Amino acid sequence: MLNGKHIVLGITGGIAAYKSVVLLRLLVKNGAEVQVVMTPNACEFVRPLTFSTLSGKPVITQFFSANSGEWHSHVDLGIWADLFVIAPATASTIGKMANGIADNMLVTTYLSAKEDVMIAPAMDLDMWRHPSTQRNIDCLKKDGVIVIQPDAGELASGLSGKGRMAEPEIILREIKEYFRRKETLKGIKALVTAGPTYEKLDPVRFIGNYSSGKMGFEIADELHRRGAEVTLISGPVSVKPYSDEINLIGVESAREMYREALKCFPDADLAVFAAAVADYAPEKISELKIKRENEEELEIKLVRNPDIAAELGKRKTSRQITVGFALETHNEKENALKKLKSKNLDWIVLNSLQDPEAGFMKETNKVTIWNKENSKFPFEAKSKREVASDIIDVISQSLEKSGSIVG
Ligand code: C5P
Repeated sequence: MLNGKHIVLGITGGIAAYKSVVLLRLLVKNGAEVQVVMTPNACEFVRPLTFSTLSGKPVITQFFSANSGEWHSHVDLGIWADLFVIAPATASTIGKMANGIADNMLVTTYLSAKEDVMIAPAMDLDMWRHPSTQRNIDCLKKDGVIVIQPDAGELASGLSGKGRMAEPEIILREIKEYFRRKETLKGIKALVTAGPTYEKLDPVRFIGNYSSGKMGFEIADELHRRGAEVTLISGPVSVKPYSDEINLIGVESAREMYREALKCFPDADLAVFAAAVADYAPEKISELKIKRENEEELEIKLVRNPDIAAELGKRKTSRQITVGFALETHNEKENALKKLKSKNLDWIVLNSLQDPEAGFMKETNKVTIWNKENSKFPFEAKSKREVASDIIDVISQSLEKSGSIVG
């Protein structure tokens, strides 16, 4: 299952470090190649010799080897690794990671990591529930770190509560699940539209909207994380895709977005229309800046933009799946289902503007998804990254049915 996978196992200074011996055994037994990195404090709990013997590789504890003067390159480690697992992750290391305090080899490796990072926190219950720890955990989650929740139970301090590191078997299961998910959309070509469009009025002004592009970018990132080949067509935004393997095409207006989408669509197995496309554009773009005249009013004639989702819906073949978004203020279900039909979509994701946790500039979103058969999939308010994951879990069912992926 983990054959050929390169895992960096980071170990920090908590009593749970003894469990990392078992975790390392399990990883190696399952075929992974493991490079252990320890903080100086971790070496007080378990000797590096134990880990080097089990991994078959010298353990890295310092920036350079005291005997040979050999420099350990954290950058090379980041290139070599498929996954970085930090178990146990103490409150101190979690705090350093959240704030970029790279005063040891492990946190320095984290800051250079190109691969995904998973942490298994371990600490006393009071430390775990302290607002500072929770703030740092939230921050790491936002940065994309996968957090394996600690267990509740008896702690080394003699107290009982939440904070005990997840058992090595659980961590192994999470690692296997991570790699399984990474392969689920292998071979799938996905097209995502995201962000707002800007419809130019003159050289300095445009008609736009509040879309941040976050939801569409999270969807593109998640599709890529699961192995899909992703093309992301985006209007002007400040967010970036997490990987430069995502083919990002930047556009400004709805017409430009439409042109690019038309080119990419025939190749796509899946298209997700997350862009907030302007329905109308000024009929004429003034070559010169429009001046304030003496008149009280200024009339600008607007003409209809192409509906990208609907146009591509007409061209859709039976092997292609399309997903649209609906942002509604009233008659939400009715309007969403109308769009599903009129744009010939397979799925529609509804986010309600009435919901305080959903919408344009928010970090969170709350969605309900429908398919053509009127089946409803409601979700709680979550971070946009988690919402992206839920959406892809649900729509993957269609990809399995269409034969694009084997379930
Ligand atoms: O009709 P409405 O704009 O509410 O539909 C929203 C859905 O249609 C979204 O998925 C959006 O990306 C897509 N859309 C589009 N081109 C447009 C307008 C909307 O692709 N011109």
